[in-house]
Amino acid sequence: MRRKLAAGNWKMNGSMSAMSEVDGLVKAHPDPSVDILLCPPATLIWSMASMRGEHPMAVGAQDCHAAVSGAHTGDISAPMLREAGASHVIVGHSERRADHRETSEEVLTKAEAAHAAGLVAIVCLGETLEEREAGRTLEVVGAQLAASVPASATGTDTVIAYEPVWAIGTGKVATTDEIAEVHAFLRAELRRSHPSSAAEIRLLYGGSVKASNAAEIFAVPDVDGALVGGASLTAEQFSPIIRALE
Ligand code: G3P
Repeated sequence: MRRKLAAGNWKMNGSMSAMSEVDGLVKAHPDPSVDILLCPPATLIWSMASMRGEHPMAVGAQDCHAAVSGAHTGDISAPMLREAGASHVIVGHSERRADHRETSEEVLTKAEAAHAAGLVAIVCLGETLEEREAGRTLEVVGAQLAASVPASATGTDTVIAYEPVWAIGTGKVATTDEIAEVHAFLRAELRRSHPSSAAEIRLLYGGSVKASNAAEIFAVPDVDGALVGGASLTAEQFSPIIRALE
């Protein structure tokens, strides 16, 4: 049985003053029956990890470099993130694939680096609107899955997030049929590529998830939770999404 995961991606948002949101979440979910994860900007990882104290909420990063150390100005390695208090790291988010021209091959090396450092890799994939309209959604996400997910991936060290690019931050949510089609496809592909771990690897949906649509998205088969952007920034908005998973 896959445990549900409510993951928040703060992107380049948040400051020390936002730590009160962590306090709010911890108080609202003292003994959560689902996994909760927040991925703030790297500058806040340490503070957030300290703030949650003994609470099981996990803290993650939004990217890592594939190398352990070296001459990579501005980058942060997976062991550094781990030392700062992260247990998870998002890799291959579409904003990184677009803004930093990250390829699936690079995403794979980052996921492998995350695993080597003992971090859970949340591998993101998703099609653009142009690709969907051209009928290429499954081809695109299938290729990203094949190229970005380590062969050794298990349900313990890897989560996959399907985030259609056109649904991110746009308020446009994929329909439940669209989500169901892609998630069933990803599960079937995993059964072929990762037969021993396919049933355990969690598949998250991401893209304009909010309190008002969470329950219907979570009812879709093979949706094991969500990767939430905007609506994860406050406890007031994120908490009902967590509750919809419980
Ligand atoms: O990684 C989360 C994401 O890209 C979705 O963002 O703001 O549409 O929930 P948002």
